[in-house]
Amino acid sequence: MLAIASIAEEIRDLKKQRRAILLAHHYQDSEIQEVADEVGDSLELARKAQSFDGDVIAFCGVWFMAETAKVLNPTRMVVVPDREASCSLVECCSADQLRAYRERYPDHVVVSYINTSVEVKALSDILCTSRNAVQVVNSIPPDKTVLFLPDLNLGNYVKRETGRENMRIWQGACIVHATFPGRRVARARAEHPEALVAAHPECPAEVLSMADFIGSTSAIIHWCVSHAGSEFIIVTESGVYHSLHRLAPEKTFHFIRNEQCNCSECPYMRRNTLEKLRDCLLTLAPRVELSPEIIEQAAVPLRRMLAVR
Ligand code: 13P
Ligand code: SF4
Repeated sequence: MLAIASIAEEIRDLKKQRRAILLAHHYQDSEIQEVADEVGDSLELARKAQSFDGDVIAFCGVWFMAETAKVLNPTRMVVVPDREASCSLVECCSADQLRAYRERYPDHVVVSYINTSVEVKALSDILCTSRNAVQVVNSIPPDKTVLFLPDLNLGNYVKRETGRENMRIWQGACIVHATFPGRRVARARAEHPEALVAAHPECPAEVLSMADFIGSTSAIIHWCVSHAGSEFIIVTESGVYHSLHRLAPEKTFHFIRNEQCNCSECPYMRRNTLEKLRDCLLTLAPRVELSPEIIEQAAVPLRRMLAVR
């Protein structure tokens, strides 16, 4: 406990010296969320990174989020605690695959989830996050065929919500959300009949069909905190418990666990630690370095997304 407190103190000092901001996703360890200047979902953190006017952005999330921060605010230095903090969605859609698709179907509008590499972003027409995916797809003229990538569960959810027929969906998946078993959600509902279910749209359709609310990480937190109910079944990464408990300590939250790890933690997100955060502020590495060309290309679909309300 003492060690954590002293590393947190070092981080606060380094933050001042570096004129840094610490941005943390909801799936980070509690100790990291405690020292962060901002904790949010991927859309909120992208907006925060864009408007930062200090020197260093220390991004505690996964690599694609740090790349996004660099694209949106290229004159700032962006560092991360662990370079290996990737995402299974990024890994299931390469730029070469998308290039080949675009050559074959040049008239399709490519809507990419923000959980993609910067190279895939640069080849996309518009981006989206779990928070604005429905609005983004609705912003595309109805006569155009959409390719939604890479998350099949989010894509199918958006297709159901928008009622759009001409929508193709990549077959990628999040290793955390796609493996939440429907039977565990059903069992939790039977055990806690008063509880309401909140789920992230990366979950399978069977899970989403049992949900009272579907939304991004921040949207789930906001919904549970502001709802009159006092008991909730949560189907997303367990890092959101930190904000749920802080904002609504009187409420009860039951987390669904995956069968393989019997947990609901993202192994990529959890690579980051307080020690690695301190070290990246000290050494200013690992650092996101992108060419001006890729920044320019990826900024176009990102800005289009940010313009959609
Ligand atoms: P949010 O956009 O809800 O923050 O989700 C990001 C993510 O990686 C979900 O698994
Ligand atoms: Fe990627 Fe899933 Fe982890 Fe989110 S929870 S960062 S989508 S692997």
